[in-house]
Amino acid sequence: MDFDLSQTDHLLTTTRAVRKRLDLARPVPRELILDCVRISTQAPAGGNHQRWRWLIVDDPELKGVVADAYRRSYAPYIEAQRAAVAEAGNSAESNPIIDSSTHLAEVLHDVPVLAIPCALGAPPPVASDGASEGWWGSLLPAVWSYCLAARSRGLGTAWTTLHLPFADEVAGALGIPDTVTQLACIPTAFHTGDDFRPARRRAAEEVTYWNAWKATDAGS
Ligand SMILES: Cc1cc2nc3c(=O)[nH]c(=O)nc-3n(C[C@H](O)[C@H](O)[C@H](O)COP(=O)(O)O)c2cc1C
Repeated sequence: MDFDLSQTDHLLTTTRAVRKRLDLARPVPRELILDCVRISTQAPAGGNHQRWRWLIVDDPELKGVVADAYRRSYAPYIEAQRAAVAEAGNSAESNPIIDSSTHLAEVLHDVPVLAIPCALGAPPPVASDGASEGWWGSLLPAVWSYCLAARSRGLGTAWTTLHLPFADEVAGALGIPDTVTQLACIPTAFHTGDDFRPARRRAAEEVTYWNAWKATDAGS
């Protein structure tokens, strides 16, 4: 099968963190979320162990618990960001990331679905044996696949981690056992408008080394 590269590349280069364009009023059918999870389970995992679970939170009260945890760690985080922006001589008021992140923090409880990818078990300590890298590498591709599957169905997502300092509280409310690790919280909603564009990123030639560290020129 020939892929339509204009479609696949568009998907891969325009799946942005959607915060201000989440449609808070339009319910997201559970079947659509299941489709995204179904696609995410095709992601690679070391030993094909698939030690992931998705806890989908669409109950208003429980979304409130997650959002409350998020906001408590967002407040000091964004204060530090504002200070850093001001110190660099820029205006925090007109900073688009601060602006959109603050919006998301404020409305998080109203986002139709908060998807919490979880791992069975705990990450191994960082060591030189690759176990930690294998653990994370066996989980996070599935999370990104969920985001891509969502985008191709008209759903916006934003990968967030700020509720995790209060993961225990959220675990208590959602009945997550202490043998399970929450990996993120992915607010998911239909997006309004669809003019997402590739973001400014470092050039591939700059971040690609050929055969030796920092050898960026294929011809040399
Ligand atoms: C591991 C990880 C954690 C993140 N945590 C948050 C978060 O807690 N809140 C938030 O608003 N965005 C969060 N983001 C989204 C990033 O800010 C976003 O991906 C980045 O600014 C690039 O923007 P783009 O995805 O629209 O290109 C996170 C992204 C990743 C990959």
